[in-house]
Amino acid sequence: MNHKIIQLGIMHLNDCMDLDQKSLNGLWSKSQWEKELTEPKRICLGILEFETKKILGLCSAWLVIDELHITFIAVHPIHQRKGLGKFLFLDLIKRSKPLQINQIHLEVKNNNEPAKAFYKSMGFKTVGIRSNFYKDGSDALMLNKETHNKG
Ligand SMILES: CC(C)(COP(=O)(O)OP(=O)(O)OC[C@H]1O[C@@H](n2cnc3c(N)ncnc32)[C@H](O)[C@@H]1OP(=O)(O)O)[C@@H](O)C(=O)NCCC(=O)NCCS
Repeated sequence: MNHKIIQLGIMHLNDCMDLDQKSLNGLWSKSQWEKELTEPKRICLGILEFETKKILGLCSAWLVIDELHITFIAVHPIHQRKGLGKFLFLDLIKRSKPLQINQIHLEVKNNNEPAKAFYKSMGFKTVGIRSNFYKDGSDALMLNKETHNKG
């Protein structure tokens, strides 16, 4: 394997903004990323390629009591569909185990078919819809996954 998962910090601000730009056309502003990379209740992970020292993918999640809310997940477009998103997501699950997480939530654009297929393959179920949720007027699907920490 020529990559590993690392915890991201403020020193990765430019990498995050660059990947955000390439994969989601710049979903968040610089100040949003600064917040995401520094607030204690957030888990921000990246896939670091050893050779190039580049971040190939990243995910970010908020910890709210016993729930994890995924706010961002993306893999660099030229590295998509190679299992990196799954690698990142499984690592997030592993790290959340000691935190006694019972549920993982997220929202996805109803027209984002690759992401919907990805989340379905990771075991998420659709639990609701928010109409007109995004700036472009599209709806958000609310997805949920139980993590079996109960009992
Ligand atoms: C969603 C995303 C992170 C998935 O990452 P990825 O590294 O490409 O996904 P993986 O290679 O780990 O795929 C795991 C499984 O998800 C499903 N999947 C992933 N991408 C898919 C696609 N484009 N079409 C159909 N199924 C897909 C498949 O079941 C796949 O398993 P398989 O390749 O063995 O068939 C990636 O497509 C991405 O960065 N998209 C742009 C950013 C984005 O939309 N983020 C989500 C915002 S809510």
